This record gives sequence, C-alpha cells and structure tokens, in this order.
Amino acid sequence: MSTASDLSFYLRPGGGLHGRLQVPGDKSISHRAVMLGAIADGVTRISGFLEGADSLATLGAFRAMGVPIEGPDGGQVHIAGVGLRGLRAPRSDLDLGNSGTSMRLLAGLLAGQRFATTLVGDPSLSKRPMRRVTEPLVRMGARIETTEPSTAPLRITPVAALRPISYALPVASAQVKSCLLLAGLYAAGETCVTEPAPIRDHTERMLTAFGHPVRRAGSRVCITGGGRLSACRLDIPGDISSAAFFLVGASIAPGSDLTLEHVGVNPTRLGVLNILRAMGADIQLTNPRDAGGESVADVRVRAAPLQGIVIPRDQVPLAIDEFPALFIAAACARGETLLTGAEELRVKESDRIRVMAEGLTVLGVEIKPRADGISIRGGDYGGGRVDSGGDHRVAMAFAMAALRAGAPLEIRDCANVNTSFPGFADLAAGVGLGIEEQWT
Ligand code: S3P
Repeated sequence: MSTASDLSFYLRPGGGLHGRLQVPGDKSISHRAVMLGAIADGVTRISGFLEGADSLATLGAFRAMGVPIEGPDGGQVHIAGVGLRGLRAPRSDLDLGNSGTSMRLLAGLLAGQRFATTLVGDPSLSKRPMRRVTEPLVRMGARIETTEPSTAPLRITPVAALRPISYALPVASAQVKSCLLLAGLYAAGETCVTEPAPIRDHTERMLTAFGHPVRRAGSRVCITGGGRLSACRLDIPGDISSAAFFLVGASIAPGSDLTLEHVGVNPTRLGVLNILRAMGADIQLTNPRDAGGESVADVRVRAAPLQGIVIPRDQVPLAIDEFPALFIAAACARGETLLTGAEELRVKESDRIRVMAEGLTVLGVEIKPRADGISIRGGDYGGGRVDSGGDHRVAMAFAMAALRAGAPLEIRDCANVNTSFPGFADLAAGVGLGIEEQWT
C-alpha cells in the first residue's frame, strides 16, 4: 500500500488556465451531512458528497457505530438515520486519519452517548490541539482522557447526563463551536456559544435544514437539547477551499479565463474572494442560487495584475484554509503582502507558516515569517524541489505557483491531496496546468 510520503507532483513552468470545471463537494458540509444524517430520523439523501479521505473517515465512523449507509457512489450517499439515541458502540477505535474536523466534531457528538469510544488519528492529527474541545466538554460534564499535551487519542466514557453551558470561544474556531452545538443536542437545557469573530456557520444552517431549531443573537448561537432531527435531501456545493487554488492560479497566469461551476459561496467562507479582490483579482459570481440553506454560484476568474496588501484581520477566520493559496498570490503580486493575526495556521494539518515559508524560500521568494503570520514580497521566482509537509493545501498551492515559476517544480509528499481533493491533478491538467503525478 502507498504511504503519505510517496506521491510527487512534477510541474512544467508557465501556461494558463482556461475553460470550465467543477471542484469536488465541500468538505465541511460533507462531514456535517453524514453526522446529522446519522442521528436524524428517516433517510437522508445526499448528492455532491466529497469522496475524499477526510469525509470518508467520518462516514466510516458512523458505519462502525451501526448506521446503515449506502454509497458513496458518484457523490450520492443515502443514510438511514438511527435517531439521536440510536448509535451503537463501535467494535474498535474510530480512526479519523488526517481529519481534524471529524475528531473535534465527533468528540462533541459522542460525549453524550451511552457507550465509550476512542478516537485516533494519523501522526499529523495526533499532534493537533484537542484541549480546545475537551476543556468545554468537561465543563459540560463529559469524561474524556487525552495524552499529556492534550492530543489524541481521545478516550470518551459515558456520563449520566451532559450539562448545558454558555461558552465564549477563546479561538475563532468553527470546529469548537460545532463540537459544542452537537454536544448540546444531548444536554438538558440550552447550550450557547459566543464567537469572537464571524466563523463558518454550516452546522447551524444544516441543523435548521434538519428541522432542528437554532437560536442566533448577534455573535451568540444557542441550541436546546432533547429535540429531534428529521431526515432531508442535501445537495452539497463545490468546496470554495478547493476552488481557491484555481482562483489564485487563473489570477496569476497571464491570459487565463476560467469558470468554476456550482461553488459554495456562504458569506462565512468568502475571505479568499474578498482578499483576492482587494489585491486586484478579476472574479465575478454569476447564477446565484440556494442549495439546502447554503448559497451557491458559478465563479468566473480572469487573469489580472495583483498588488500586495495588508490583509484585514477580520478576513483571517473567513479565509483560514486558503492562506497557502493566498501566499502564492502574494508571491506574484507587486509589492508586499502582510498577514498578521493568523497564529492558527501553525496548528493546521501542518505548521502552514513554516512549511509555506520553507517552500517559498526554495523558489527564491522574499519572505519574513512571524509568529502570527508572514510578509511576502512579490516578484519573479524560480523552481526547485518543495516539500508539502504532508499537507494537502500546501501541495496544491505550490502546484499553482508553477504557472509563474521560471523553472520546473517538484512537490513531494502529496498523497494527502486525496483528503480534500481527489482527482486534483487530472482536473487541473484538464484546464491547462502542466502537472504530472508520480508514485515512487
Ligand atoms: C472547519 C473549520 C476550520 C477549518 C477546517 C474545517 C470546519 O477549522 O480550518 O478545515 O469544518 O468546521 P477551525 O474551526 O478549527 O479554524
């Protein structure tokens, strides 16, 4: 079997991106669709499901807890929900691979079950901070053991009942908010979470689509336990975090004109678009529509000269997954781009400030990393061999960098691209990226 360190991307420098494409389904929404479908009453029919390793890990966890699931087949998944109290003890540990969203959201959903579970992950996930979820869950009365530095495995044991809490998030994390709302489904009374800044709201939107009330007042979101969820149909839009690589690629590659169809454009995910537009990008949304409470549009992007900017702090949580791609845009922009207030990037699938800084340095881009961000001076750059650190988004960001590189690029450790974007290389090659994959 292949391991995470044996897929390389080889890229020819230059070229442009042209035509139309559809990126795979949204990862955040795919996870939530499986979770809520599993604990709903009735059969939930999903289309557009992301068949990437992360969302498949969530799906596998619910199968292991006795939920009948058909698919995925061409993005279709049918989940015969077992109701809030119908999950069964899995026979073994739940392996969530590389997926932080699976682990943090499941911690909340499983804290109120009447059986024990152990959540494990790959080496990257096993290093990521879990205290941010275990601390408020313990306040709700949950019993969760972790390793000494508060990392996975998470061992969750049943308690008589969860208590509702009112919790002000210390970090702007949608994963923590969602974890607590899911735990709140099992608590007697009203659980409330206050956001320090706007963050993605897919959990709230989807709970509403499943007929479960969610109360929002400003930055405070509340849910009352003891209700029920009713199965529904969900059409999952394309993932704007996957579209981001093409938005950057087509912006930086002269002559490009690319349309991305059926992309999720939920306002809490639009930081990448706002930042690119502030840099001078030519991006238009057409054909706006609604899909199960989520906004969807086609996105047309044409090459445009970019300029460096100071990235507004309020955009950081709204673009948190798109910074690897945005750093490449900054490397192609005139002048300096400055990012601050983004220390969360250090605890993603890799330390994205360090790994991106190392790769940009290989290419000869002038950068200055800082504890909470980076400054990048745009200009001409070369090629070389870059390591993705096993991080899917770093690998895809550097693939787009080739469009403006002066020499060929090799990107190593790319197997994890499959966590969020299966078929990336073929899709990108189809619109003009000079990319080849090689297993070694
Ligand atoms: C996610 C939230 C974000 C994001 C992650 C997916 C989610 O994490 O980085 O890829 O689905 O809720 P944080 O909320 O921890 O920033």
